[in-house]
Amino acid sequence: MTELDAVQRAAQAQFAKQSARYGQTHILADVSDVDAALAQITLPARARVLDVATGGGHTGVHLAGLGHDVILADLAGPMLDRARELAAARGVAVELRQHPAEELPYTEATFDMVTCRVAAHHFTSPAKFIAESARVLKPGGYFLLIDGSVPDDEPVAEEWLHQVEIARDPSHHRLLSPGAWSALCEANGLIVQRAELHPFKQPDLEWYFETANTSAENRIRVRELVANAPARARELFRLGEEEGRIVWWWPRLTLSAARRHAVAG
Ligand SMILES: C[S@@+](CC[C@H](N)C(=O)[O-])C[C@H]1O[C@@H](n2cnc3c(N)ncnc32)[C@H](O)[C@@H]1O
Repeated sequence: MTELDAVQRAAQAQFAKQSARYGQTHILADVSDVDAALAQITLPARARVLDVATGGGHTGVHLAGLGHDVILADLAGPMLDRARELAAARGVAVELRQHPAEELPYTEATFDMVTCRVAAHHFTSPAKFIAESARVLKPGGYFLLIDGSVPDDEPVAEEWLHQVEIARDPSHHRLLSPGAWSALCEANGLIVQRAELHPFKQPDLEWYFETANTSAENRIRVRELVANAPARARELFRLGEEEGRIVWWWPRLTLSAARRHAVAG
């Protein structure tokens, strides 16, 4: 791996520390969002897939279980250990690689699909990640991104959510809107087929702190942000209380795009 930048190092350290939380009982083990996206994509029966920022491997191992040849890649070694354990528990073969999303060590046109789920908001450079994903996809291959997002043209709500996320987990970098992701895709020869926001429940602020091991000081900061949330953020994210738990609904983006075929001549 080439030298990591400060954002990548922060994510690597954060997830190395927290890897034990990303096992089979984690909220991300429910891959119905992946299945819903796959239902709209036509893949070869045995596709070559790269799962970028695989974390505990929930997406990549699921794809391997469907019969695809999958490389699970991540920055954090301990997360790759969790992914390896999950693959072993399911009895599926996968390849594991340690590298950043912004620099993919594969030749052009290697994969039928590149996936990345609930991770891209940590990336230093979404632009480099998209350019690299497009480069390693075969013409006609698919790019599938699932990540926390914000609606287009909602700067107040976006800034509130950004402040909450970065206080909760300082390795958070930025949430991009569907329009911003789509523009990056189109600029890199990825033709966007769907870019949809689906609300996804944050079920309990205390649980949310635990997943990131948020410091005591930052928990206070997030509680203040929640107490003083602007009306637009309250409304858009349905911020509220349920049986003493603070809940809200994240907009989660599912974006699928196909690699443009080379234009003859
Ligand atoms: C929440 S987990 C991913 C969840 C997983 N994709 C799934 O479907 O269950 C986020 C992962 O992103 C990884 N990550 C963060 N920044 C990264 C980067 N720049 N390059 C590669 N991996 C990164 C972290 O190490 C962590 O394992």
